[in-house]
Amino acid sequence: MAAAYSLAWDVPLHGWNTFHLDARARCLATVHDAAALPALLAEPALRNLPLMVLGAGSNVLFATERFDGCLVHLQSRSARIVGDEGDHACVRVDAGFEWDELVDWTLDQGLQGLENLALIPGQAGAAPIQNIGAYGVEVGAFIAAVHVFDRQTDAFDRLTAERCGFGYRDSVFKRAPDRRIVTAIELRLPRAGATNLSYAGLAEELAAMGGLESTPRNVAAAVRRIRRRKLPDPAVAGNAGSFFKNPVVTRAVAVELQLRFERMPVFPAATDAERKLSAAWLIEQAGWRGFRDGDAAVSAQHALVLVNLGHATGPQLLALARRVAASVQEKYGVTLEPEPRIVGATFQACPAEQLPQA
Ligand code: EPU
Repeated sequence: MAAAYSLAWDVPLHGWNTFHLDARARCLATVHDAAALPALLAEPALRNLPLMVLGAGSNVLFATERFDGCLVHLQSRSARIVGDEGDHACVRVDAGFEWDELVDWTLDQGLQGLENLALIPGQAGAAPIQNIGAYGVEVGAFIAAVHVFDRQTDAFDRLTAERCGFGYRDSVFKRAPDRRIVTAIELRLPRAGATNLSYAGLAEELAAMGGLESTPRNVAAAVRRIRRRKLPDPAVAGNAGSFFKNPVVTRAVAVELQLRFERMPVFPAATDAERKLSAAWLIEQAGWRGFRDGDAAVSAQHALVLVNLGHATGPQLLALARRVAASVQEKYGVTLEPEPRIVGATFQACPAEQLPQA
């Protein structure tokens, strides 16, 4: 029988992160079957090494040249229907299944719900960690349970959605990143019903596609067109999608800011006491869109995306992110938090005196 996991040492990570940074990892464990996780974690060679799960590397910034620990990559990638409730079905998907392929697979099964999340890079196992969301939908709305290996209790566990603590780009998995290794997710998806066109540009996109009906497949196609147009392609310019979360502020702060900056977009948040601001707008208005420092840049296509135009390093991208956040803090009094996982450094906005002169 093939080994359930394999170890590689001193591994170049260029192909393992969508920023295409030239970091290295002391060890990379490729896990072919999640049942082997307890054996892997008991490996003498890995004793005392920090472990970090790495999926497709699409939401991570390696801020140092070397990750002196072991990256764990889960490869299992089966998906199957495990429950049928008539108008809904439950599917179980291994962590290693590629997300965008999963969107198509569910549509092929006659299941809908994930169409607004088409073309998000990454693996299914990463989806619950930051509760991926786009075009008016968050995956948490469809997650029935998340299967994990819990390193605190040393046991496999199944967390129902209530235990996952989903919020905007947030979950219990993100708040305690070293505790649980996601091995599979269960999604409960409807077989029929209206698609979600709450994101303003979606209906317009369907109209521009020749007045297409808002079927799940057409919505997925529209989302893919919007993403391809708006977001830089990591194959062309390394990036990890949005680099900052959209800041959530109190309603009073949003009202006060809108009095000062009347064109500032404001969106609803989880509670009526809060509002979500557009980080992209704040960054663009602070003059950063298209700014370039060597090969580290703020995308000219979308101000929320930091890009590696060639040979930027993790520290250079992090320094740029800090400058962007500090200038938004200074101009608007709003704190930007990074969205990707930053490995090897903590994020702190740089002091105002180091800001570039506009
Ligand atoms: N805007 C600018 N400048 C720009 C881009 C956008 O001012 O360069 C303003 C526009 O006013 C626009 C507003 O920002 O109306 C919102 O832009 P967009 O619709 O592109 O969405 P976003 O808030 O910037 C979020 C997610 C994206 C997701 C889109 C669509 C976060 C952190 N990002 O971006 O997710 O695709 O909404 O739903 O919530 C990701 O997480 O990696 C990601 C790409």
